[in-house]
Amino acid sequence: MDRKPVTIGKLFKMKAEGQKISMITAYDYPSAVLCDRAGVDMILVGDSLGMVMLGHQSTVPVTMDDMLLHIKSVRRGLKAAFLVGDMPYMSYSISLEQALTNATRIMQEGGCDMIKLEGGAEVAPAVKAITDAGIPVCGHIGLTPQSVAMLGGYKVQGKDLAGAQKMIDDAKALQEAGASCLVMECVPSALAEAITKAVDMVTIGIGGGPGCDGQVLVLHDILGLSLRKTPKMAKLYADVAGQIQGAVEQYVSDVSNHSFPAPENGFAMDESIVEQLKL
Ligand code: KIV
Repeated sequence: MDRKPVTIGKLFKMKAEGQKISMITAYDYPSAVLCDRAGVDMILVGDSLGMVMLGHQSTVPVTMDDMLLHIKSVRRGLKAAFLVGDMPYMSYSISLEQALTNATRIMQEGGCDMIKLEGGAEVAPAVKAITDAGIPVCGHIGLTPQSVAMLGGYKVQGKDLAGAQKMIDDAKALQEAGASCLVMECVPSALAEAITKAVDMVTIGIGGGPGCDGQVLVLHDILGLSLRKTPKMAKLYADVAGQIQGAVEQYVSDVSNHSFPAPENGFAMDESIVEQLKL
């Protein structure tokens, strides 16, 4: 039976009832179809696609055009999951007008249910402008990969008192500005749990421990397809890279030893035509 589409109201209800929310990244049509069929509540077209799909070293080179191409293909694959689209690097930091224009594109052209952007109190004015315009926003605090140069690497955030207090203040500023969801990346579990209890926003952890309202992981990390060491916060559920490479090696060998194509892979022609053509 088809699932009912997941709405923002359903996400708040799940938080209120203590039902955990599953979120996963998807970047293309087939993975969207499969994740939706698997029953995931939320899909994130994250700007992590820059590293996972496009081979960049960070998320910084990702553009609005990259995001929209991938978001549109994911949208076409979804029936029920709630779709969140990431705002890429510098697409919301130059002016409120720019932030609103790009958020509008992600909703209108990409067909998202919500946009996500990185940062704390400093992005609150952009969050307010976007939510005032009626666009739901998911914040993202802790390790914010677009600011990796400022953070000095991909590290756990909020480990000391000042950092933890700042993160609490950032979460509250985002809520005040109108955000409904909050991703917390690489945040100590006790802090992520305390923030979850202190806010009405739906919190989603990635390396945020079990106290968050939900969890998000990068699809390619759980499939063993990200071609990097599985990060500590992820869990490996399959070796898809091994399966793909093994299957292609088999194909290469079949072609080279003449076992592919077999007669059943070809198309027959009427014998009389073959004769007339003198083939
Ligand atoms: O870009 C992304 O995939 C993300 C998740 C890791 C939360 O922001």
